[in-house]
Amino acid sequence: MSSMYNEKVMEVFSNPQNVGQIPDADGVGTVGNATCGDIMKMYLKIKDNVITDAKFQTFGCAAAIATSSVATQMIIGKTIDEAEKLTNADVIENLGGLPAQKIHCSVLAEGAIREAIKNYREKQQNK
Ligand code: FES
Repeated sequence: MSSMYNEKVMEVFSNPQNVGQIPDADGVGTVGNATCGDIMKMYLKIKDNVITDAKFQTFGCAAAIATSSVATQMIIGKTIDEAEKLTNADVIENLGGLPAQKIHCSVLAEGAIREAIKNYREKQQNK
């Protein structure tokens, strides 16, 4: 069976990294995809403004899972300011491209990361 996805996307989808929850996460963000209704939840551990761990749960398609996996790998070790600037285009580039009808799937990771950072900042203000 030939796939519409490239080899890297299939490889990441078959063995996604950072799947799961972080029970004591410092920031949690959930986003829904306006196009298809799929959902992603992102958990971040943050120390001194640096993301030390990231995990995700994606209730979505192969492209959403592959982009979440790569996005978490791209932000671990970055500051929250840097992570906030991660775009779906950066993630797609890292994956070597996505089929045109799957581009909308890649915005979930970007959105969930931003929501989780927002949640972290709100918690800091309320401390
Ligand atoms: Fe919904 Fe891909 S089809 S995230």
